[in-house]
Amino acid sequence: MKLDEVREKYLEFFKKREHAVIESVSLLPENDPTTLFISSGMQPLLPYFLGKEHPKGKRVTDSQRCFRAEDIEEVGDNRHTTYFEMLGNWSFGDYFKQEQIQWFFEFLTKEINLDSKKLYVTVFEGDEKSGIPKDIESAEIWEKLFGGSERISYYGADKNWWSRAGSPEQMPAGEPGGSDTEVFYDFGTEHDKSFGEECHPNCDCGRFMEIGNSVFMEYVKQEDGSFAHLPLKNVDFGGGLERITAASNDDSDIFNIDTIASIIKRIEKVSGKSYADNKKAFRVIADHVRASENIIKDGIIPSNTEQGYILRRLIRRAVRFGDVLGIKLSDITDGNEEIIKEEEKFRKTLEKGLKEFEKISSRGNISGSDAFVLFTTYGFPLELTLELALEKDLNIDEAEFRDKMREHQELSRKGAQQKFKGGLADHSEMSTKYHTATHLLLRALKDVLGEDVAQKGSNITAERMRFDFSWGEKMTDEQKQKVEEIVNTKIKEGLEVTNEKTDGKITYTIGNNKGDYSVELCGGPHVENTSGLGNFKIKKEEASSAGIRRIKAVLE
Ligand code: ALA
Repeated sequence: MKLDEVREKYLEFFKKREHAVIESVSLLPENDPTTLFISSGMQPLLPYFLGKEHPKGKRVTDSQRCFRAEDIEEVGDNRHTTYFEMLGNWSFGDYFKQEQIQWFFEFLTKEINLDSKKLYVTVFEGDEKSGIPKDIESAEIWEKLFGGSERISYYGADKNWWSRAGSPEQMPAGEPGGSDTEVFYDFGTEHDKSFGEECHPNCDCGRFMEIGNSVFMEYVKQEDGSFAHLPLKNVDFGGGLERITAASNDDSDIFNIDTIASIIKRIEKVSGKSYADNKKAFRVIADHVRASENIIKDGIIPSNTEQGYILRRLIRRAVRFGDVLGIKLSDITDGNEEIIKEEEKFRKTLEKGLKEFEKISSRGNISGSDAFVLFTTYGFPLELTLELALEKDLNIDEAEFRDKMREHQELSRKGAQQKFKGGLADHSEMSTKYHTATHLLLRALKDVLGEDVAQKGSNITAERMRFDFSWGEKMTDEQKQKVEEIVNTKIKEGLEVTNEKTDGKITYTIGNNKGDYSVELCGGPHVENTSGLGNFKIKKEEASSAGIRRIKAVLE
């Protein structure tokens, strides 16, 4: 079956069972500061588990686009991808275990035509510590459907419990969760003993693949660590769309389903190499490019913070694996500008960095300071250095690396305070915008008045900027207008703001791939792209002291 077909069948199946079909939301969570990406279908629905009424009723279903950053390193085997769609059906205090288990079984065996003998399930064995009992009810329902109990096994809270935060112990007070029952498909491939003596549903050898998880959300963690019942007994089901599609084809390689196979074929064509001989590289590139395209589509660009940093990591990792195959990402992304720009940027430093890494690694294990230099000077994320080290069987002193990072951040903070004397009034979004605008202003003043204009101070609040610079006379109206025009042009060009760290100092660059516009030593904070700064307007230009002029300006 094709991916679209499976999705359609699933939504139709639950629509027939009185579920309202809802749209997938963006990968970027709204009003949820606890997480960078949507990584499960239930996340955007959290309030409805806690008792709020869903406008569409007590039964809803969807196919939610998800991204799991924590799986980046897992990509390479037959079944892990960072980006995927999660089929979901939910009961907010409506049906419970009986209907949920029976329906999912029916969907798999009647709609997807899976052989029920290839289905294995796991059920919660109970957890004394949190006082949650064994889930005998679910096991009994499965036993009836299977006509026996051979393919049912019990696991503890580390496997058959689900909450956004993980196990009962890891959950903070107020977090909902519950025991779950997972369904695995047996592809019948040979067991690989490097994963353990015996194969079992939760074994990682690739024979079994988890294809769906029914969570019975009925508990909420209390301040004292105990568990209370939620006002309603809810069902939170999540099924991997790509995985169910793979099972429908009885092919344990998820990268062979139609939507991913098209990228794999393209990589084969461009590289002239075969997927069969280079599985890991093909899988990493296919997944990371697909994930990056989706993250970019939802409005993120590569940067050094938060979602932008994850995106940068994905692209850079894909570039490295592209090198293994001798291809460029630009050959397989259909002109995705952000990916192409990031690839170019990374390639510039990659070559030098790899040489440096060779030098460093020839001396043996990698110290924290060496990893730090690779990060600051060559833009190597720690994860990349770790991967390179792993290839050579070397260790990295990660604790020392983290110490260096902390030290470095402190230095830059101090640097920023010194440089800005009066400084930024706060680190609000608006002040940050003004701060980036001062860099553009200084550059524009140099363009109009001459290179020897120097910054003499600045003072920024969320409402305006004040900027002092060396210049001996009143600026003419024409000069002021020219400066405004230049700054506004640079804002409109949507230039990227990036930084590089060397010797405890941060250099900020504002520019695009055609060339850098402004380069300054500074401690930040800055916006990531000039496009959101607004319209720059000089309100006043006056004498500050002998040989020093002061501009007051706003962003409208
Ligand atoms: N929320 C559950 C999961 O992500 C269904 O596995």
